[in-house]
Amino acid sequence: MFTVKNEVQLQESSEALLIGLFARNQKITGLTQELDSLLDGQITELLKEGDISTKHNTVSKVHTLGRAPIKRVYFVGLGKEENLSFESLREALGKAVKTISESKVGSFALGLDSFVTTGLDAHDVAHAFGEALALSTYKFADYKQKSNEPEKNIEKVIVYTDGNENEVEASLTVGYAYGQGTNSARTLVNLPGNMLTATDLANYAAELGTKYGFEVEILEKEEMEKLGMGALLAVNKGSVEPPKMIVLKYQGKDNWEDVIGLVGKGITFDTGGYSIKPKDGIVGMKSDMGGAAAVLGAMEIIGELRPEKNVVAVIPSTDNMISGDAFKPDDVVTSMNGKTIEILNTDAEGRLALADGITYAKFHGASYLVDVATLTGGVIVALGNDITGAMTNNEAFFEKVLEASLEAGEPIWRLPITENHKKRVRKSQVADLNNSPGRDGHAIFAGTFLGEFAENTPWVHLDIAGTATTTSAHNLGPAGATGAMVRTLATLVERFGEESEE
Ligand code: BES
Ligand code: ZN
Ligand code: ZN
Repeated sequence: MFTVKNEVQLQESSEALLIGLFARNQKITGLTQELDSLLDGQITELLKEGDISTKHNTVSKVHTLGRAPIKRVYFVGLGKEENLSFESLREALGKAVKTISESKVGSFALGLDSFVTTGLDAHDVAHAFGEALALSTYKFADYKQKSNEPEKNIEKVIVYTDGNENEVEASLTVGYAYGQGTNSARTLVNLPGNMLTATDLANYAAELGTKYGFEVEILEKEEMEKLGMGALLAVNKGSVEPPKMIVLKYQGKDNWEDVIGLVGKGITFDTGGYSIKPKDGIVGMKSDMGGAAAVLGAMEIIGELRPEKNVVAVIPSTDNMISGDAFKPDDVVTSMNGKTIEILNTDAEGRLALADGITYAKFHGASYLVDVATLTGGVIVALGNDITGAMTNNEAFFEKVLEASLEAGEPIWRLPITENHKKRVRKSQVADLNNSPGRDGHAIFAGTFLGEFAENTPWVHLDIAGTATTTSAHNLGPAGATGAMVRTLATLVERFGEESEE
């Protein structure tokens, strides 16, 4: 995908060139200056006239009309240099790449140094560009008879920089891997429930395992019964699709220690069960495996980058259906760790599946746990669609996850777990726990419930019910699945055990 060059050769073969423009009193430098002299000062003129804008996220196209060897130049405005953050740079690059790809250009060149600031070096820019290139060009192949005509995709980018060619290429590749992992998660979430069953998800995970040499374990129903995974099995009871407990292990250290457990909710469709969802609430519930997708997307990045860390990914998967055999309110089930659960609401199924997932991750040696789940509508009420809800039992570990989320540009915000929440989750006449203590702040009850299974293992819960999908297209992707938390999880794993910079 990338060819990095120190020497600028604006050949005929490059269909387009992308350059960043800061609002530096409209003073132009570097490559832009070279082009300006080739075009007899026209760029300076167009800037003065406002036909080329330096405003952040604004793309201006200039045709060179045969006066320069390159056909078109795309300028993307970056605003004031001191205001440009990694995320705002990535967004501007996404906007520019999207514009270029929509004009059916198969390859283009990037003037990388035009994006460098005092705060963002060539590596940051290369990483942001790699990510933006993958994310902004993502498309889900739909099922319309008329669509999916062959499109011209961007296949090659020449990157000009004064920086070290190998190092810049490495950063471009890392960024691109982050984008690709996110896109894979998007595709899994976008797949409808009839095309992505627990079996399909398990097959996908097994293929990923083969590709990257992960140890793969897929538990079948009989094995789950033997292990006493009564919580996950309860959710599956009404389904004709067999459940799967999916495990992938990546060992990057000599010994199986300091293991990060990533647990993802893999409900391939959530009808709510007998506590059935209203008809409008069911639509969209194909995305209820967004946590599983985030974990698998992160595993793809880990497989590509091979950090010296240990990771176990655990995905409890089933759909939540209704039948004469389905589980019901008032049922009591026994989870893998022995705790009994009174079912008050069959629509609070994610926490049941995850309870056994968390216990099984610990069984596989997880010494830290992060679970990711489209768990509650409550988190959307609390934090909206841009911020992932977080809960924890360990301040220091939460700080690590927070740092990773900030680096990845995926905001999280913490909600509390109090003794009163624990009391409400433990309130039952007949069992150790109940799965739905009430509607008041219920995102917190879901997290509190999971904490009962994490026990003393440092754990962070991420509720992505609001962030896993979006209703509108944005500069880094279309409407639909976002791939939320893929990059946070991968960053957490990559950075884990390193001293933070402060
Ligand atoms: N899968 C849903 C949560 C959800 C809602 C995800 C909206 C994405 C968008 C989850 O299983 C659920 O139904 N939660 C219930 C919990 C309640 C019964 C305590 C909810 O949020 O209403
Ligand atoms: Zn539900
Ligand atoms: Zn659900």
